[in-house]
Amino acid sequence: MKYIFGNWKMFLDYDESIALANEVKSLSYAPEKLQLTVFPNYLALHDIVQILKDTKIGVGAQTVSRRPQGAYTGAISAYLVKKIGCTHGLVGHSERRYIFHESDEDIHDKIEASFKVGLSPVLCVGETEEDLKEGKRQYRLKKQLMKALEGIEFTPSVPFFVAYEPVWAVSSGKPCNPADADDVHGWIKEELKQYTDMIVPVLYGGSVDQENVVSYLSRETIDGVLVGSASTKRDSFAQIIARANEI
Ligand code: PGA
Repeated sequence: MKYIFGNWKMFLDYDESIALANEVKSLSYAPEKLQLTVFPNYLALHDIVQILKDTKIGVGAQTVSRRPQGAYTGAISAYLVKKIGCTHGLVGHSERRYIFHESDEDIHDKIEASFKVGLSPVLCVGETEEDLKEGKRQYRLKKQLMKALEGIEFTPSVPFFVAYEPVWAVSSGKPCNPADADDVHGWIKEELKQYTDMIVPVLYGGSVDQENVVSYLSRETIDGVLVGSASTKRDSFAQIIARANEI
């Protein structure tokens, strides 16, 4: 199984999100080979769950609160998104870490909160350009995985995902070389064994598009892709799915 996750970020308004969800619904692909999940903004989440409810396409939240319930103005919990039918939640996306200053503790608690309500967490990790220059890629990834996962009680019935998203590759048009990503994925999979004996699909993200998607998905260690901007346009997303479906 290969996973194609589309993170629509804050690119589309409500009407555009609904229109794209309907387009995605109409695409043909082999669900036994590919698992698709889209991550629209909160405003469109409920309606997109309804649009896709009779399909095998998952719907996820772009982030969830670390808190379960209560007086937290502006927050939306994992429970609330699970309750409307979402299947997944991104946790620790680099834009949340670096723009909104989410801490390692926040990320740990969000994973815990997601497992508690049966929402599949998709933990995003990745080194910055500075880390890379200083030879600290593994150090950064090791630390992010440890801070996020130490003490987590994994629920075997709730799939868990990791997305390797080098920060320098996200939204930059400079994707990570697939051979390099392949090595990192192998290393991440070894590293994950100390936290869980679950099989954890590891997805690559960072400037994936219709031209390069196959170069990632054809690698055994790369279980899928987390696509940002190329998933927000019908044509590029449809081509990504069509090419992945041919592998
Ligand atoms: P990008 O975003 O594909 O636009 O680089 C990937 C992501 O942030 O998940």
